[in-house]
Amino acid sequence: MSTPTSPAIAILGTGSNAPARVLTNDELSRQVDTSDEWIFTRTGIRERRIAGPDESVAALAAAAGRFALADAGLEPGQIDLLIVATCTPDLPMPSTACLVQTELGLRERAACVDLNAACTGFVYALDHAWALLASGRYRHALVIGAEKNSTLIDWADRGTCVLFGDGAGAVVLGPARPGTTSGILDAQLGAIPGTAELLLVPGGGSSPLAPESRRHIAMKGKEVFKFAVRGMEEVTRDLLARNGLSGADLSLVVPHQANLRIIHALAQYLELPYERIFVNVDRYGNTSAASIPLALDEARRAGRLKTGDLMLLVAFGAGLTYGGALVRW
Ligand code: ACO
Repeated sequence: MSTPTSPAIAILGTGSNAPARVLTNDELSRQVDTSDEWIFTRTGIRERRIAGPDESVAALAAAAGRFALADAGLEPGQIDLLIVATCTPDLPMPSTACLVQTELGLRERAACVDLNAACTGFVYALDHAWALLASGRYRHALVIGAEKNSTLIDWADRGTCVLFGDGAGAVVLGPARPGTTSGILDAQLGAIPGTAELLLVPGGGSSPLAPESRRHIAMKGKEVFKFAVRGMEEVTRDLLARNGLSGADLSLVVPHQANLRIIHALAQYLELPYERIFVNVDRYGNTSAASIPLALDEARRAGRLKTGDLMLLVAFGAGLTYGGALVRW
């Protein structure tokens, strides 16, 4: 097991933020040949949020981060590590994290970096931050997932435009509060070699073969679906087994919110009642790296977590990547 042992590192606060603009299935069905019935039956999505041209990823991220800091009762100057998980950075450089640092007023001696593992980005960032804090070299980390997926969408492609949305979510990590058993218990990350072409944006990077017209999400939905279920089940099985746990020990699962059918497949695998799985894909669609921290913040505010609960965060995404984390609340 790759678990850092001490000190216990816990989630001290959560926050989230989504653009005000709501795009419903009915509205989309006036733009492309689709329907609320098709979208909801295949995905569980009813609506998603879309950022305006003036709403940057850094601004979405900073707002979520500000809420998380307030929730943790920390000042911006107390953060010495900021990781922003995103696959839709505002700019190729500098990192979105550096823009967020300025916006939040973090101190100069704070490490600021972006991380891209697509929809698994937040779980990757959480694991990296956990390891750095457990090393003792950093004390408090702000970990944010933030996306403006709407900028990568071909709005004429009904196969993808119905799936994605924009938003941000954040957590503050730090030493567990004395007298609690809270903390990140374990995490596992992975990536499946040879699967890049199943889900990608084929242009927009440094590739010379990338005209602007190819800067859109391209996806082989059925294959991604199968790998998603497999990856999330396997990582969950490994995490539970090596910690001597079973699905029945989980009080709450916060899965990546891509498709309700994928979430149901995971619930069946874990033999968990749906009440123990948090779902908000109906209102946000797939917000990639923002999906889990946005859902986690909503779950908390809805009273779905109490001290001592065991929670699983589990995701998959382009790469294809996957990852999970076990957290004692
Ligand atoms: N409205 C109406 N019809 C549609 C739409 C739409 N929006 N989209 C596709 N269709 C049609 C197709 O053209 C096809 O028609 P045909 O049979 O005449 O050819 C039919 O519906 C069935 O299409 P499928 O693609 O086979 O539908 P499927 O049941 O596989 O559902 C979906 C598609 C929802 C995309 C599903 O495959 C899925 O969710 N896959 C996982 C995708 C995912 O989670 N991606 C995010 C990854 S995370 C990240 O890192 C970004």
